[in-house]
Amino acid sequence: METLSGSEIREMFIKYFNEKHKATIVKSSSLVPDNPTVLLTTAGMLQFVPYFLGLEKAPFEPARATSCQKCARAGGKDSDIENVGKTPRHHTFFEMLGNFSFGDYFKKEVIPWAWEFVTEYLKLDKERLYITVYEEDDEAYAIWTQEVGIKKDHIFRKGKKDNFWGPPGVSGPCGPCSEIHYDLGQQYKCSENCSILTCECDRWVEIWNLVFMELFCDENGNLSPLEKKNVDTGMGLERIAMVCQNKASTFETDLLMPILNEVSKLSNVKYKENPNIDISLRIIPDHIRCATFMVSAGIIPGNEGRNYVLRMILRRALRHLKHLNVELPALYKLVKVVIDNYKCAYPELENQKETIEKVIRIEEEKFKQTLSRGEKMLANLLESGAKTISGEDAFKLYDTFGFPLELTKEMAKEANVEVDLEGFDHQMQKQKQRAKDSAQKIVLTDDLIYVDIENNFGSTNFIGYDELEAQTDVLEIVKPSLKNIDSKSNVIDIVLQTTPFFGASGGQVGDIGTIENSNFKGKVLTTFKVNNLTIHRCQVLEGSLQAGQSVFAKVDKNYRALTSAHHTLAHLLQAALKKILGDSVSQKGSQVESTRTRFDFSFPRAMTQDEIASVEDLINKWINDSIAVSTEIMDLEEAKKSGAIALFNEKYSDKVRVVSIGNISSELCGGAHTNNTFNLKYAKILHESAIAASVRRIEIVCANTCLDLLKEKASMIDSVSKIFKCKYFEVVQRVEGLILEKERMEENLDNFENKIATEAVLALKDKAVLVPDAKIVIEYIESVNPKFVKDAIDLLARKLYCDHAIVIVSRSDISTRLSIFSMVSDNFIENGITATGLIQELTAKLGGKGGGRPNFAQGSCEYSKQVQGLVNEFREEFLETYKKVYVKN
Ligand code: SER
Repeated sequence: METLSGSEIREMFIKYFNEKHKATIVKSSSLVPDNPTVLLTTAGMLQFVPYFLGLEKAPFEPARATSCQKCARAGGKDSDIENVGKTPRHHTFFEMLGNFSFGDYFKKEVIPWAWEFVTEYLKLDKERLYITVYEEDDEAYAIWTQEVGIKKDHIFRKGKKDNFWGPPGVSGPCGPCSEIHYDLGQQYKCSENCSILTCECDRWVEIWNLVFMELFCDENGNLSPLEKKNVDTGMGLERIAMVCQNKASTFETDLLMPILNEVSKLSNVKYKENPNIDISLRIIPDHIRCATFMVSAGIIPGNEGRNYVLRMILRRALRHLKHLNVELPALYKLVKVVIDNYKCAYPELENQKETIEKVIRIEEEKFKQTLSRGEKMLANLLESGAKTISGEDAFKLYDTFGFPLELTKEMAKEANVEVDLEGFDHQMQKQKQRAKDSAQKIVLTDDLIYVDIENNFGSTNFIGYDELEAQTDVLEIVKPSLKNIDSKSNVIDIVLQTTPFFGASGGQVGDIGTIENSNFKGKVLTTFKVNNLTIHRCQVLEGSLQAGQSVFAKVDKNYRALTSAHHTLAHLLQAALKKILGDSVSQKGSQVESTRTRFDFSFPRAMTQDEIASVEDLINKWINDSIAVSTEIMDLEEAKKSGAIALFNEKYSDKVRVVSIGNISSELCGGAHTNNTFNLKYAKILHESAIAASVRRIEIVCANTCLDLLKEKASMIDSVSKIFKCKYFEVVQRVEGLILEKERMEENLDNFENKIATEAVLALKDKAVLVPDAKIVIEYIESVNPKFVKDAIDLLARKLYCDHAIVIVSRSDISTRLSIFSMVSDNFIENGITATGLIQELTAKLGGKGGGRPNFAQGSCEYSKQVQGLVNEFREEFLETYKKVYVKN
């Protein structure tokens, strides 16, 4: 039996909701959510949270959307990583098909739609489908049983644990849900009592979750009704592909099998010969797929948050490659097969291929270096004469140096040494907890190069609050692994004794500038910190440099001045927000750059235009007042008592730096600031938007960035007024006038095209072929807008005054594609002739695709000159078939 491919299911789902239910197709949002409280995008609904909460109006008409969302559940609260490889269907990365209603359709629409889609489009066996609903949801239960006709032994009520979904973060939208499950069959039962009611075993696959988002959950878990009733559904593509392709594991679907096969080829081991090896053969394809998508979203391996998650995923995959005895680097070679498998759905992957391979290869090189240090550690341990390797050491070998436990055990056994496995497990549990907390700050100690340098030389002496230049000594030069890969990129990391360069921290970007001496010239591309060591990532422009040499380090003054002004702007913004919106506003995150400030804060609704203008005016008043900015080092307690704002959750040391702007603002802050508000020149808010439940984001600019922007806007308005030959203040009125005129013309054109199409379709009445008991119209027409052909077919059917089968192939003058419509009356369906069948046969002939319901279906294909002939041929063939069916009956 031919089965549906992953791509076909993806397309069919989106098309079903778009064409049949008027949902706007929305592109997958990035794996990096636009929301500082969530580590990675874990569900399709995340990008729509502001609409569910009623913070913003959904920009769709009707208020419906459908999407295929890239999701990762690999770190933080929703991590699935521990199960990957061990079960037949857990993934770190997956795609979620979804349809969403923002106060538009609700239970009585979405339940029958979901049923129609799984039974009539995916053609799943109804007997194998089981439904669960939330125990108190009588309405959903009634719709399933009375309207859809689900038998009582196929529907069950379950509690909050199973049938209540959300909120996705600490607070947000949530609601009761109803799930559709598929029974893979008796052969997968876990016991004699295996039942959908009690089991979560491999037999039962949850294929679709329909969430009735009607509640809001606050941070304390209190529920209150949302303004509108919404729908959020999620169908895991891998799982539904598994069911449609009659597989018992998602790894065997066309979405993952090509990747698994490639791993098998790379490692020269076969799948399904050894269960232990199979775990690695599943983990590697899963992880490389996730890593490929994460890197394509701009994430690089690192030691904090989502960067750490990526490093963890890559290192797990590398450990498993080692387990399969593959020589590293090798993982990067799998990027190609992932991209080949996904480029149709995500074309942007293709031109990122080299970057992704490079990022992964660099990480592999790093890991390899670490591994060889681990080998040394293990050799030392074995030579030390100890009879046991402690759990802590075995874990350090595993976690820091990437040594698979099996390898440690094997080498220890050869030397007649034991390994404390219990101690190892204990350490592993502790690490899992750390991984779960990875949404918080995690600093790993395995960036050993920098840790070693700091251990040897101590922390960097930072003088950059007061000085922008320094004559100082080079302590160490590190060649970042990217040097090994691309010999052309002459980049080095320089560690200095003393530095005026600010290393990125506290939301402020790192400085740029130059480092040079008589033999060397380097351009500092960025500056960052690992613990208290400042690292200058530098492009070598001329000469060479060695540790121990003296250099002149000079920060780019202009860049620093602009960044400092934008940091002071962030403080002024927070003070102004508190004054205008109230003291409950608190900072949730910020990003300070030389050309903008991004500030996230807690507030339950959108700001009004007046509030935005008041905040902006207040900041500009303070700028104009030329207020001095001062800093002071204080005891933490003293600073807090003085009322200085501290960030919740942030760890501070006993001595803190307090930045004050007159008596307007006082904040604990390690950033660089300008010394007078006057240097900000002028400030302008660019955007205010929602990024999560009760979290808003403002983007604001000041100083030259702001003046340049205003200048650019003014000159654009001047250009437009020149085009219109009007005064600049008349521009808006003119544009509005144009839009109105365009709408009127479109309406006229629509009316005209509708008339042409209706006449052309109705004229086909004369070409109808009279056969016993019915009329058949199978025709090709040109120069008509397909949008109106569809409506006109109804009219034609009525005018034929008897049973009918109609197929119309049409083309508008401006399209290179043909649109095909088919409508049949009930007696044709009863005789096994459906509109869907006709469309499928004809599109097979014309080289296109289509689908729909038994009585109405549509499709499309490329135009070719042969179309008229092929349609005639199809008509003749159909008449032949009809005669046979008719005669038989
Ligand atoms: N948000 C729900 C889920 O993730 C349905 O899309 O399961």
